[in-house]
Amino acid sequence: MPEKKNDQDRKNKIKELINALNEDLAREYQAIIAYTVYSNVLKGAQWMSIAAELKLHAAQELQHAMTIADQIDYLGGMPTATPKPVKLSEKPEDMIRFDLDNETVTIRNYRQRVRQAEAVGHYALAEALRKIIGQEQEHQHDLATALGIDVPDVFSDGA
Ligand SMILES: [Fe+2]
Ligand SMILES: [Fe+2]
Repeated sequence: MPEKKNDQDRKNKIKELINALNEDLAREYQAIIAYTVYSNVLKGAQWMSIAAELKLHAAQELQHAMTIADQIDYLGGMPTATPKPVKLSEKPEDMIRFDLDNETVTIRNYRQRVRQAEAVGHYALAEALRKIIGQEQEHQHDLATALGIDVPDVFSDGA
């Protein structure tokens, strides 16, 4: 029966969405850890103002993790407890570059996630994700400014 098939389709899509949100959650944990460590080890007068920004980022990433975990639970999934690995470096520029690259990937992923959430009618989730994207874009902008470069183009891969 076509209706049964649609039901199964929707279930599969929600499963995929839960799995993808768990990847997002693991990236949020990674961001919390990276910002906590980097903001404390950045040394030198020129990095003091970005170090203060990174502490604010850490707190916002925790809020994102809370939101994503809540949404995974709401969808019937189990939130992951494992972060993606965090790279370390002695050089301030490297640390800020790692953060910037991660933010760019995160924004790209969340844009895809908004489309997935809307495809299964989860508009409140899509709305929550849009708010997170707004903050990730601010993070990306802060990091690019600290490096003295333009904000990377999230659309360069055609997303
Ligand atoms: Fe985040
Ligand atoms: Fe971020």
